[in-house]
Amino acid sequence: MIRHAAMSDAIAMQQLIAQAFPLACPPETAKDDIDVHLANKCSSENFKSYIANDKTTVIVACDGSNLLGFAILIFAETSIESVTEVLTSVTDTVELSKFYVSPTQHGQGIAQKLMQRCFELVHELGWSGLWLNVNQQNKRANRFYEKWGFTIIGECDFILGTSVQKDFIRERFFTAGA
Ligand SMILES: CC(C)(COP(=O)(O)OP(=O)(O)OC[C@H]1O[C@@H](n2cnc3c(N)ncnc32)[C@H](O)[C@@H]1OP(=O)(O)O)[C@@H](O)C(=O)NCCC(=O)NCCS
Repeated sequence: MIRHAAMSDAIAMQQLIAQAFPLACPPETAKDDIDVHLANKCSSENFKSYIANDKTTVIVACDGSNLLGFAILIFAETSIESVTEVLTSVTDTVELSKFYVSPTQHGQGIAQKLMQRCFELVHELGWSGLWLNVNQQNKRANRFYEKWGFTIIGECDFILGTSVQKDFIRERFFTAGA
């Protein structure tokens, strides 16, 4: 099932992203850089802050008490210049900040259910689209986002520990009825 996250999900989110995040990075990425990122940006405390923030919606996919995936949506205007200069509409495009499925569940339809719910939330709350950034070498995620209609609108740097990674900025902008 897909539901809103509870504070009690934060530890499982930390554990899931520790397994899935390395798959989002180029294979040559240093383990230390990944570990620094996970410790600083993906701790259970970080996830509790997202869950508590009223501008942020965290949804989880679960099977009983097992966490299978999660998505974090930020319903706020971004101030990142490389993004604002390429978005179709800065004021009403939601940031899909994190989107992760447990590696054992890839290809099983969990990501589809999560993304479907993300789209529904964007519509229900009256926003016009979604944007995200994704590593240019993350072929699986890029293919997945492409299938969901996220087009490449720009590029940006992503600081990962001591390295600078190249990301695509992608947008799914809804036109009336889409
Ligand atoms: C990105 C993610 C959520 C997608 O979920 P998923 O269940 O793997 O997605 P799907 O299997 O439905 O779709 C992936 C697509 O990529 C394809 N694919 C897999 N490996 C690929 C590769 N090396 N090159 C190109 N396409 C690839 C799959 O075949 C599938 O396409 P298809 O449906 O046309 O066959 C999941 O893979 C994940 O959590 N990855 C690790 C974390 C991550 O990268 N998150 C995104 C950060 S921005």
